[in-house]
Amino acid sequence: MDTDGKVITCKAAVAWGPKEPLVIEDVQVHPPKKMEVRIKITHTSLCHTDVTFWANGDKSKFPRIFGHEGAGLVESVGEGVIDLKPGDHVIPLSSGECGDCVYCKSKDTNMCEKYKADLFRTVMINDGETRFSIGGKPVYHFMMSSTFSQYTVVDYACVTKINPNAPLDKVCLLGCGVATGIGSVCNVTDVGPQSTVAIFGLGTIGLAAVQGAKINGASRIIAVDINPDKFEKAKVVGATDCINPKDHVKPIDEVIRGMTNGGVDYSFECAGNVDVLHQAFASTNELLGLTVLVGLDPSPRKISLTPLDLLYGRRIVGAILGRYKGKTQLPELVEKYMNKEINLDTFITHEKPLADINTAFDLLLAGKSLRCVMQMF
Ligand code: APR
Ligand code: ZN
Ligand code: ZN
Repeated sequence: MDTDGKVITCKAAVAWGPKEPLVIEDVQVHPPKKMEVRIKITHTSLCHTDVTFWANGDKSKFPRIFGHEGAGLVESVGEGVIDLKPGDHVIPLSSGECGDCVYCKSKDTNMCEKYKADLFRTVMINDGETRFSIGGKPVYHFMMSSTFSQYTVVDYACVTKINPNAPLDKVCLLGCGVATGIGSVCNVTDVGPQSTVAIFGLGTIGLAAVQGAKINGASRIIAVDINPDKFEKAKVVGATDCINPKDHVKPIDEVIRGMTNGGVDYSFECAGNVDVLHQAFASTNELLGLTVLVGLDPSPRKISLTPLDLLYGRRIVGAILGRYKGKTQLPELVEKYMNKEINLDTFITHEKPLADINTAFDLLLAGKSLRCVMQMF
């Protein structure tokens, strides 16, 4: 391509400081260095984690280009990249896979030794520098993907090639939220036809977890949210019961234990709140309950448990990206969407041009959207 090896100037939504509205700027995107890939992003969607780090990030990490759910085409590859070529359809990954390390070779984790998800990284692993700049001044990266830019540079390990027939404006959702929700059920637990499940927080991640539980045939899927507007979609994707903690005098965990003869087999925290994590934990069966921590509470609050809480066998486990190995397993999830085995369309509540990105932030913060897909060109 004629841009190969050259700096590309393109539009990107730049966050100049915490809680400051994003500004569409002309940004210089430098060519990919060794083992890096430059991607033309065609679509991106806003995830709550972008909002969390935009609102709570420390000033030294700005200006920054957020975004980690996206899809597009390879524009050019750096030296040594052999599995990707210009024109390939791809999804960038906030959690990479080198394929060679002891963790990549383990079936029990999707975290690569070198490229595991790192919410605090702002520069490329190769040389500690950014590939974005404005007038010679660096602009920082986010979650190894920075998809709120028409072009972005990522490590070869942080991008996966997908079916070229897949609609990029839909499968961009698999870069984080929907994959996280489905995988948290299907990869992290043994939810099956006899299982009872409670899912706390019905944003995209929680609703995708409901979908995962439905796919695995769970007999009871209790969906919990303090916003009753979320219940309609929860039923569409498979919830058998929808409950609002605000409608009950008793604590919600007591309500759920009462509904399920002593507690659910599995609970999922998808709200990003430590108090909700406690509720999710207390909703499980005290002998065999498993709670999966999916949401991320931005506060420094601690989880408080006594040894007795765990003694009988109850467990809590965390997972990132639903324990999917991004490079090898996300393309399979794309195929599942193509075969109509998973639903993505339900999660797309809004579509907008990149220029309207601040509206997408407002909608998500107000609980009025699931995913807003933004068209980059
Ligand atoms: N109890 C139950 N549900 C709650 C509670 C609560 N106390 N507080 C908030 N919720 C619900 C919200 O009403 C909302 O429907 O949790 C849902 C969160 O959804 P989104 O904001 O759309 O977020 P989502 O993209 O699904 O991500 C969920 O995972 O990655 C993290 O940072 C992300 O913490 C966030 C979480
Ligand atoms: Zn690895
Ligand atoms: Zn995300």
